[in-house]
Amino acid sequence: MSLQAHPVGHAGPVRDPVISLRGISKSFGAVRALDAVDLDIFRGEVVAIVGDNGAGKSTLVKILAGVHPQDSGTISFDGSEVSIPSPAESRTLGLATVFQDLALCDNLDVVSNLFLGREMGGLTLDEEEMEKRSWELLQQLSAKIPSVRTAVASLSGGQRQTVAIARSLIGEPSVVILDEPTAALGVAQTAEVLNLIERLRERGLGVVLISHNMADVQAVADRVAVLRLGRNNGDFMVADVSYEDIIAAITGASDNAVTRRASAQATGSRADGGRNPEEGLRP
Ligand SMILES: Nc1ncnc2c1ncn2[C@@H]1O[C@H](COP(=O)(O)OP(=O)(O)O)[C@@H](O)[C@H]1O
Ligand SMILES: [Mg+2]
Repeated sequence: MSLQAHPVGHAGPVRDPVISLRGISKSFGAVRALDAVDLDIFRGEVVAIVGDNGAGKSTLVKILAGVHPQDSGTISFDGSEVSIPSPAESRTLGLATVFQDLALCDNLDVVSNLFLGREMGGLTLDEEEMEKRSWELLQQLSAKIPSVRTAVASLSGGQRQTVAIARSLIGEPSVVILDEPTAALGVAQTAEVLNLIERLRERGLGVVLISHNMADVQAVADRVAVLRLGRNNGDFMVADVSYEDIIAAITGASDNAVTRRASAQATGSRADGGRNPEEGLRP
């Protein structure tokens, strides 16, 4: 398998990306975090962004989230060039970002967290209406939350991630960006979050999944975009690419100790049919 980029979306019907990044560069002082990066995001598709520490994944997310402006390059939304100067503008465009820290208020219940800081067209929803909408939303996501009046502090890691993702849907986005949503989760909770990601895709959303865990990527992503040292280093349909090819693109080497160890672990985890907790590139 070649490490060169595929024509994006080559396996599916012809469609237009909802978001299209072209030649995105961003430096922090002398550090070139992103160097001429291209990325397309399609509706109804999960695209995983993978890469080693420092590859530029979070910087790319922050540009889409309106946290940092790019130094150069263009962002198009449904074919029209846009700028994303602020988080508010990112949300207005229809991009919802769930950052790794989730930013939930532990002492508040699920309903309050879902609607925190939201003003619906200048109107505040009453409690009853918010509770009803919370249940509807969580049901659509097949979320396993015992009660919407539970304080978020008493929920499991997977349930908290679910609440954070559900909250991102209140603004009816076209794209949801998840930064390492399973990094802190055990096996069962990870499965719950991966199911949730499938629900998002079924709803026709574009999903961007930042992940270090190749088992998760291969379980749920349709496409994987590899960043290495701030540059594109491969864009693959997951169905067409092996674990070893993804790792080789991440490390920039097809035969070194890291690649060999990683592929040995992959073989081990396939043999026992389970999830290898050490399979990620870092603990
Ligand atoms: N706010 C910042 N100030 C200075 N350097 C940064 C900042 N954010 C990221 N970087 C640097 O940019 C590079 C890419 O980082 P990042 O996007 O966080 O990578 P990743 O998320 O893939 O680990 C790294 O070298 C990192 O140290
Ligand atoms: Mg990061």
